[in-house]
Amino acid sequence: MVLEVSVDLYQPRMMELIVDRGILGLGNAGRSDIRLVTSTGIRMILLVIAGGCFGILSGVCANIAGQSFGNNVRKACFDRIMHFSFEQTDAFSTGSLITRITNDVTQIQQLFMQAIRGFVRCMMFFIGGTVALLSLDLSFGQVLLIAFPLIFLDIIFIFVKTNPLFSLLQKKLDDLNNIIGENVSGIRVVKAFVQEKREEARFENANKALVGTQFRVELLLSFMRPVMNIVLNLSVVAILFVGSLRVRDGSAAPGTVMAAVTYITLILNGMMSLAMIFQTLSRGIVSASRLTEILDTDPAITGGSYIGNTDPDVSKAYKDSADTSKAAADTDNKSAANAASVSNEAGPATAPAIRFEHVDFSYPGSRVRVLSDISFEVRPGETVAIIGATGSGKTTLVNLIPRFYDPTHGRILLDGVDIKDYDLYALRENVTVCLQKSELFQATIRENIALGNPDASEEEIIRAAIAAQADAFIREQPEGYDTPVAEGGMSLSGGQRQRIAISRALLKRSGLLIFDDSTSALDLATEARLYNALRTDYKDVTKIMIAQRIASVKDADRILVLDNGRVSAYDNHANLMKTSRLYQDIYASQLKDADTEAGKGGAV
Ligand SMILES: Nc1ncnc2c1ncn2[C@@H]1O[C@H](COP(=O)(O)OP(=O)(O)OP(=O)(O)O)[C@@H](O)[C@H]1O
Ligand SMILES: [Mg+2]
Repeated sequence: MVLEVSVDLYQPRMMELIVDRGILGLGNAGRSDIRLVTSTGIRMILLVIAGGCFGILSGVCANIAGQSFGNNVRKACFDRIMHFSFEQTDAFSTGSLITRITNDVTQIQQLFMQAIRGFVRCMMFFIGGTVALLSLDLSFGQVLLIAFPLIFLDIIFIFVKTNPLFSLLQKKLDDLNNIIGENVSGIRVVKAFVQEKREEARFENANKALVGTQFRVELLLSFMRPVMNIVLNLSVVAILFVGSLRVRDGSAAPGTVMAAVTYITLILNGMMSLAMIFQTLSRGIVSASRLTEILDTDPAITGGSYIGNTDPDVSKAYKDSADTSKAAADTDNKSAANAASVSNEAGPATAPAIRFEHVDFSYPGSRVRVLSDISFEVRPGETVAIIGATGSGKTTLVNLIPRFYDPTHGRILLDGVDIKDYDLYALRENVTVCLQKSELFQATIRENIALGNPDASEEEIIRAAIAAQADAFIREQPEGYDTPVAEGGMSLSGGQRQRIAISRALLKRSGLLIFDDSTSALDLATEARLYNALRTDYKDVTKIMIAQRIASVKDADRILVLDNGRVSAYDNHANLMKTSRLYQDIYASQLKDADTEAGKGGAV
């Protein structure tokens, strides 16, 4: 870049030589020197070609640097987001995270590229050009004294006016992305409730707001260039005027005035480009602060150092991936995945004990206590069921075990160690939650199951699917295990989705298995077969099963009855039938349903 600009700065000097010495023959009694003109001309052409080559080279380098910079920032942000707690992800909103990681990164990438190239160029043109101009004749400085403040004022005015608009612009883009995301993923609901018109209007409003802001920005920017052009042309006229006075009194040559015109054009063009950079800068600063918001957000939930019986290398691989944002995201995933397979080859983890001690919980930002004074214990290898009315806090309770959220009071012990002391990866490697809502990805059925353990063998995958009662229906799919699953699992029935999610959870082979109402969409016969498989194939695993139906829970070793966030009773089915009013009530209400259903083959 420096070489490129130096060539541009040197060139007017050669022009001056050609005009004054070669053409006008100054210093040679007015006789023009054609040989000087051609030789200087050839040197000038060669120099310009060399300058062009430097220009191309610096352009390529700036491009590589800019792209890599954007790439790194994007990866670092994505890495951060992957380690956010649910609360943190919700706080940013999905749409905003998407805007930030795409549009905002593009903005600062643009800024970076323009800045490294433009800033050096402009500063060199500005400083070098000014020095060169003044060295021609100091009186040209008068023109600069008037032109500079005018241009600065122009730049500052635009900068101050547009800056707040840029941050508004990004926010409008967030809103738009939120609406798009919500409606595209929720299109079925929108259609089912015939809300297309309303949603279109909502989109239109957000879009209008975006366009309106964009328009105001462009309107302001459209003032900048013409104003600068006027100043530039006035400056050229002023240089010619000052120059003609100097030529008249014999203190300057015409070639010198020509060179001065070229320099002032270079200087002011440099300043104009600088103004464009300022505009990108002002937008880039907004984007940069939005990105640092992500990068500076430390994961709210971080683990301790205790890794229990997890392979130490495994947990280190994960920790590294969590800590170093500069490491490529995909390599991280691979290393964590490879590491995971190592631990799985060592066989399923041993069944841990779990113990809640006076646990209270409120969701962040809410004062409603969802769980109060929860204390209970699950022995190693035990199967414990949790039953309770909808909204009583069952999902919330199990979500505390893998630390999706942390208790507001009290503590949870896994094998006698506070889960907060566990390395987060080691903890989550030992605890598998089959979530209430089965999330499937846009991939084949096999890949969706293998998420539980990406390096599982075909045999292991099939074994997990058989236990989850999924193998039979998967084989009936057009391409068996290779059948692609549509986004969100929309190509499968609710029960099929659940069984793929269960297969995935079983494949992970961790010591503690938590099913959050994972069999709600299965008929009782299929559910019974699944429970049988769990009893035989996964007997060395501690299990916590949330269920709504007594029929699903009555064979559990113990049943925890949750009532409005409190433990109402905790015992086996036979005892609960004698001691717990609430349990009896649930039983009675379901028995009634079963009686009326009996004629239709109800299985209770
Ligand atoms: N992310 C959240 N933020 C705030 N409140 C929440 C959140 N998730 C759940 N709640 C509230 O916590 C309470 C318990 O919800 P939870 O999902 O644990 O119930 P549940 O027993 O699993 O119900 P269900 O049987 O319907 O699945 C509810 O009152 C719910 O409104
Ligand atoms: Mg729930």
